[in-house]
Amino acid sequence: MKDVIVALDFSGREETLRFLDRFREEKPFVKVGMELYYAEGPSIVRELKARGHKIFLDLKLHDIPNTVKKAMKVLSSLDVDMTNLHAAGTSAMMRAAIEGLTRADGSRPLLIAVTQLTSTSQEAMENDLLIREPIDEVVMHYAKTARLAGLDGVVCSPLEAGKVHETCGRNFLTVTPGVRFAEGEKGDQVRVTTPEKARELGSDYIVVGRPITAAEDPVAAYRRCVKEFLG
Ligand code: C5P
Repeated sequence: MKDVIVALDFSGREETLRFLDRFREEKPFVKVGMELYYAEGPSIVRELKARGHKIFLDLKLHDIPNTVKKAMKVLSSLDVDMTNLHAAGTSAMMRAAIEGLTRADGSRPLLIAVTQLTSTSQEAMENDLLIREPIDEVVMHYAKTARLAGLDGVVCSPLEAGKVHETCGRNFLTVTPGVRFAEGEKGDQVRVTTPEKARELGSDYIVVGRPITAAEDPVAAYRRCVKEFLG
């Protein structure tokens, strides 16, 4: 199911709830990242769940398989709807993550892989990580490995969504940040697309932060995003 995910890049509970209190009619799917989670702990996730939000917990796990499995078990019991890890942790780690996430009744949150971070350049990959292949091939290889390990999708640019679907199948989810309104500020994002363009390119979920959180009227900005993306 396609949706707009609002990135709650706030430093604490009060600011987060003040922002969400502006939404009276809708309950946006929200992303809780490291900053908010490390500041407030699991209680913020429970509170947002109790308020009726779907949650993407964006903690990008990467450790030995046993540790990731146990950590995922904790996240799963928090009843989040989507979470993620680094594909660079290898397929053994990804399979262990799925085991940890899967609840006694067989259900589990969606599990999404980060391939190469969009902040990693070809040069940094070659010099720091000693990976010599072109970065787009590396991204597709990580996506394929994630799919074979049983994951549900990847985080990628909307510009890569089509190729990911070609490589991994239409049902493999693409969760795409880097979205801006046509007339909006890019901020620190380099390659951006509009919600409408992300839809045309086949994104399954768009992750939108500042175009909504920093808007004068965040509810109107959210509605515009939903309208442009979901059509
Ligand atoms: O404010 P903005 O719309 O740029 O926020 C995008 C959100 O998506 C942020 O929470 C950012 O950390 C996250 N993200 C990203 N690029 C990635 C992975 C995650 O922008 N490759």
